[in-house]
Amino acid sequence: MGSFAIKLIRWQKQHGRHDLPWQNRRDPYAIWVSEVMLQQTQVRTVIPYYLRFLQCFPDIATLASASLDDVLAQWSGLGYYSRGRNLHRAARLIVTDHGGTFPENPDVIRQLPGIGRSTAGAIAVFAFGARCTILDGNVKRVLARCFGIDGFPGEKKNQMLLWRKAEELLPMPHAADKDSVTGEIEVYTQALMDLGASICTRGSPECGSCPLQRDCVAFRDGGLDKLPVPRRRKPLPERQAVLLVLMNEGKILLEKRPAAGIWGSLWCLPEMSLGNDAIDYCSLHFGMEAQPMRQLQPFDHTFTHFRLRIHPQPLKIVSYPLTVTQGSRPAVWTTLEEALTAAIPSPVRKLLMSMEPVS
Ligand code: ADE
Repeated sequence: MGSFAIKLIRWQKQHGRHDLPWQNRRDPYAIWVSEVMLQQTQVRTVIPYYLRFLQCFPDIATLASASLDDVLAQWSGLGYYSRGRNLHRAARLIVTDHGGTFPENPDVIRQLPGIGRSTAGAIAVFAFGARCTILDGNVKRVLARCFGIDGFPGEKKNQMLLWRKAEELLPMPHAADKDSVTGEIEVYTQALMDLGASICTRGSPECGSCPLQRDCVAFRDGGLDKLPVPRRRKPLPERQAVLLVLMNEGKILLEKRPAAGIWGSLWCLPEMSLGNDAIDYCSLHFGMEAQPMRQLQPFDHTFTHFRLRIHPQPLKIVSYPLTVTQGSRPAVWTTLEEALTAAIPSPVRKLLMSMEPVS
């Protein structure tokens, strides 16, 4: 085995994480859920969501037969809801196309919605002990620094180079470990993840504690802050929107967004274009008479392709006629507390959390 793998495995056994809720088990479903939650969220945030999710949906069949609304409600607060939507869609595909059994072949795992090559690799390693490679953001950083791999890792040719490097570095299988839960491929894979998360961090790497320090090109050349090379950022286009916080007898109004488009199927505050009159909008769309309240501070939310400047506008509802024109979307009056347990977009959560209780 190459010295890279030996050093990492030795380090992991002594300093790595061994008791995370998804470790020391072979249930591919439980491992799949963990890997999807961990795609864009840190371990300590994921743990309570993970435990609740598995309690609610303990297996593929339960997840497949649940409603999307129930799944998204469990995802509430984790953000990046497309992960929850894909998980639900994939569970249904596993039932219809794979007889309800999670596939074992990494190429087949990768065909499922929401699973890329790295996630498929991680599932195959942890659930089946397969000799597969992972290459998430943390691992790209470790490899780019250790081997001095220049160039933005998101670019095709650099990405291919990193995958090739990651494959070369894989530990060779040991016959004795073939079926062991703590086989070397699992320890090695976890080591890469843990080193990237705890030692080889983006902002303040702790090179003094790193098992790869003596081999690391970036450490040797003093280039830790230059690798991995960041994306050349084009300024994102900016859009603006007003989110209306309609308040009525201690409750606020949430509307369900259409399935397509941003925040698809999530519960959201009614949205209006900037420049429209909020009072007129309420009257026209909801048949409600409203009074303006003090405007809240605008704030930005960044999507992949644009930045949204959100202007929150609280309004007090003073008359609520019996014949309500509640727009064309499902809408509910909820308390702030209830709203925070629903599947709401993260900027809406941020806004509601900054508000005083509604009177
Ligand atoms: N990040 C992605 N997968 C992970 C895992 N299995 N354990 C810890 N962090 C991770």
